Amino acid sequence: MKKNILVIGSSNMDMVVKVPHFPQPGETIMGGNFFMNQGGKGANQAVTVSRLDGNIDFICKTGNDSISKQMIDLFAAEGINTNWILKDKELPSGVAIIMVDKNAENNIVVAAGANGNLSCQDIDNSMEAIDNSDYILMQLEIPIETVEYVIKIASEKGKKVILNPAPMAKLSDNILKNIYLLTPNQVEAETLTGIKIESENSLTKVADAIYGKGVENVVITLGAEGAFIYNGTSEKVPAIKTTPVDTTGAGDVFNGALTVALAEGKDLHEAVRFANKASAISITRDGAILSIPQRNEIAE
Ligand code: RIB
Repeated sequence: MKKNILVIGSSNMDMVVKVPHFPQPGETIMGGNFFMNQGGKGANQAVTVSRLDGNIDFICKTGNDSISKQMIDLFAAEGINTNWILKDKELPSGVAIIMVDKNAENNIVVAAGANGNLSCQDIDNSMEAIDNSDYILMQLEIPIETVEYVIKIASEKGKKVILNPAPMAKLSDNILKNIYLLTPNQVEAETLTGIKIESENSLTKVADAIYGKGVENVVITLGAEGAFIYNGTSEKVPAIKTTPVDTTGAGDVFNGALTVALAEGKDLHEAVRFANKASAISITRDGAILSIPQRNEIAE
């Protein structure tokens, strides 16, 4: 029996330009053609869960504008229940301005808009979605108070919280001790612990420091190097080699896929292997939600 997954987080419209290199302050450069596609770390994770056949609910907050309509139309088309998509009366929908360079790396600026108004009250009003969930997957593009509130409720209700700490914010020990799985990337893990990852030894030290705060499982994503699992014992799972064109959203695809696999009863090693495959496919395509694979593509 598949367990139910609830994603709580952001939704943005991504405005993307490919660039030969990132501009210096004050510099104007010519880029490629502009394109838009839906994104936002929460939405990317929710759509990943849906495309990979997970049982998904998604709580997010948009504005009351044309972007909101495009987001909601997409979620409905992806088979995501839109009952928990809230609309803010004042703030516009979230937008992200993204540049992608020729190494497939990106620079992202997020204008959070309505995402920043996803409140504890909104969570109280959506308690049915929390009650129905087994796994709750979150990131940090919504207010940290809301994330903390969800973690508190989730731990009282015995739900498993997976937190992708992106973009990085200060996480109190109280948050960390109630997390089932924390999935920082290398920079986030370094910021969280104040330890630089320069070797296998320091990687283990960083993971152990996070684990020591009471997090049940730690998975540090290392880009082309794969992912490092730590829960007292450690294991490195190599990435799948591909030629990347755009890495935007790869971490979100990883997290969504990881949660799907865990909800299907796979162990952490198998879940990371599955997530590595999904994110490897996504980086061979442009865009965030545009690049998310369907389930049959993972097997192929
Ligand atoms: O992780 C990629 C996402 O970060 C983009 O889709 C953008 O909207 C920002 O939230």
